[in-house]
Amino acid sequence: MKVDVITLFPRSVDAALSESIVGRARSQGFLRLDFLNPRDFAGDRRGTVDDKPYGGGTGMVMLAEPVYQALKTVKKKGSFTVLLTPKGRPFTQKLALRLAKKKRLIFICGHYEGTDERISPLADLELSVGDYVLTGGEPAASVVIDAVTRLIPGVLKKADATVKETFTGSLLEAPHYTRPSLWRGKKVPSVLMGGNHALIEDWRRKKAMELTKKYRPDLIKKRLHRFGT
Ligand code: ADE
Repeated sequence: MKVDVITLFPRSVDAALSESIVGRARSQGFLRLDFLNPRDFAGDRRGTVDDKPYGGGTGMVMLAEPVYQALKTVKKKGSFTVLLTPKGRPFTQKLALRLAKKKRLIFICGHYEGTDERISPLADLELSVGDYVLTGGEPAASVVIDAVTRLIPGVLKKADATVKETFTGSLLEAPHYTRPSLWRGKKVPSVLMGGNHALIEDWRRKKAMELTKKYRPDLIKKRLHRFGT
């Protein structure tokens, strides 16, 4: 997958996506990540990329033109463009699965108070990573690219790892344990050490349901709505 990120702070996205599984996906060629800085497309020598908002108000707004020029250089037929903004559609695992099917993705990171509204129609999708305001779209783009990369076939060793996990089945995942079986007086639940796979599956389903009821009752409601179970 080819991903271009339009950002004033390429190093912050690059650093967030250089380690561990995503870093490996990049070095193995599953993900090709490139950056474009709107500053390089500014219309003046000073590299102006923002200005005061019309109508007054605090903060600065990113100019449309440098973002548009950056986008123009990478947008191809078949590219899918995502604008990161707290006003966007909430990012979910379902959307990650949809984005993972694309061959070319472009992410536009707003900064300051956001981008000029006239950039919005150039995006195929406006995405928010949560109901809070970040200093810019960069951490949000890193989150989305991370979630999408691990879904690219071949990136995770076990394809199964993405099947049973939290959200794919619309429940939170059951807790995990590893050695030692007794750690500072706390034992691993005995069912997990018994080797009876049917019992382990039952235990995991029960725990997943308990956790989801406790922390995300909204997911249970949605599940009832969809599957009736
Ligand atoms: N930019 C600032 N806050 C954001 C958020 N919550 N999601 C996506 N982009 C953002």
